[in-house]
Amino acid sequence: MDLKFGDIQETALIPLAIKASETTRPNARIKDEKAKEIIETLGVDVSKYDPFLSHEGVVARTIMYRDMLKKLIKEYPNALCINLGCGFDDKFSQVDNGKITWFDVDLPDQIAVRRKVYSDSERCKMMEGSALEGGWTNNLPKSEMNIIVMEGVLEYFSKEQVKICLNMLCDNFEHGYLLAELHSPFAEKNSKHHDAVKHTNASFGWGTKTGEEYLPLEPRMKLVSERSYNEEMKKYTIRGKLFAIIGKNINNRLALYKW
Ligand SMILES: C[S@@+](CC[C@H](N)C(=O)[O-])C[C@H]1O[C@@H](n2cnc3c(N)ncnc32)[C@H](O)[C@@H]1O
Repeated sequence: MDLKFGDIQETALIPLAIKASETTRPNARIKDEKAKEIIETLGVDVSKYDPFLSHEGVVARTIMYRDMLKKLIKEYPNALCINLGCGFDDKFSQVDNGKITWFDVDLPDQIAVRRKVYSDSERCKMMEGSALEGGWTNNLPKSEMNIIVMEGVLEYFSKEQVKICLNMLCDNFEHGYLLAELHSPFAEKNSKHHDAVKHTNASFGWGTKTGEEYLPLEPRMKLVSERSYNEEMKKYTIRGKLFAIIGKNINNRLALYKW
């Protein structure tokens, strides 16, 4: 299949490749049969997108996002959940409680490819939309609680774009939580050395030392928690443990914001 992606959209192949390869391992820490199926259906060669550190990082973040989402959904069982910049991710099936309403939102060319491998269902639908413009939110059902998932997306935005995105979320959703993947200033300067991103044309945007740096950009948001992926990565391998020491402040983090 001839696939054409923008530079950031191409990066969606990285977590896809990693989730599929982890699924085939003995003692797989995450299972994602859908990722395997998508790679087969699209017929893409994703071998270069699965180096060690990215692999461990994506496994860690998949576990951390899933667990945090499950906790929030337990608290708000009827929430409207939006996976903004969903790529090929299949998170709905990991966290569905039988009640939530879920939208997988991404740029039009990404959604066009996603439609080849996913179908809409009653409570899980795809929608074209951008994190930098809120028009698409008018087509969503109203909900008292909105949970926005942004996994592997904000790292590619400039500071100005992060501000536009945060303002757009608070303007269009009265109350919500944002699960945000943050990266460090070190990562910002080193896209060309990142073990997986260097194989794409994308480069990282504004990196932060702490999630508090988002707060002046959108004063309606509060930072609830922030955890480094090292916390999960160091559980599994010696290299993961070592990286947690050497790369103490350079690994990505999952930050939870509330407004
Ligand atoms: C690294 S991928 C992550 C995909 C998915 N969240 C995951 O973890 O598997 C980055 C995604 O961000 C999407 N993206 C880039 N710019 C965007 C924007 N302005 N609005 C919405 N999505 C965007 C890309 O199309 C791509 O699917």
